[in-house]
Amino acid sequence: MFLRIWILLFLVFLSYTIYLYINCDTGRQIPVERAVVAGRDLWQKKNCQACHQLYGLGGYMGPDLTNITRTKGENSTAIFIKYGTGKMPNLQLSDAEVQNLVAYLSWVDKSGTSKVPENKVHWSGTYLIDTKQ
Ligand code: HEC
Repeated sequence: MFLRIWILLFLVFLSYTIYLYINCDTGRQIPVERAVVAGRDLWQKKNCQACHQLYGLGGYMGPDLTNITRTKGENSTAIFIKYGTGKMPNLQLSDAEVQNLVAYLSWVDKSGTSKVPENKVHWSGTYLIDTKQ
């Protein structure tokens, strides 16, 4: 009797494993372009995060750059990175390097929003995550 139950459980386990293996969804991974990877490497090598945040994490000398390409546009972002300002250093990057960094920042931008809109903040200081985004 017990043996039959164990055999039955094993068969259920085996068929479910096979079902999952066949139906596993590999299409959900976001494809990453070469420029994005190169931009990510540069972001780390030049230590942009020492002064900037992504998702609110990082240094606080410069602004959060999670959604910079959405708010300022890719061209304006590229010009800032290329020439710097009085406060942002000119890091002497080539045009190709600047484009890779912009590609990386656009990719980060597509992953979500870092700032919580004012009307989403509850009076208690917490906020609801909008799952429809
Ligand atoms: C020494 C600190 C420092 C480093 C390192 C640094 N930045 Fe900045 N960055 C700043 C500051 C400060 C500003 C704001 C400049 C201003 O308003 O004049 C800024 C502004 C920017 C802006 C424009 C933001 C806006 O709101 O318009 C972009 C884009 C940017 N930085 C990208 C980068 C990237 C990419 C790197 C790495 C390659 C980097 N920064 C490294 C300090 C830094």
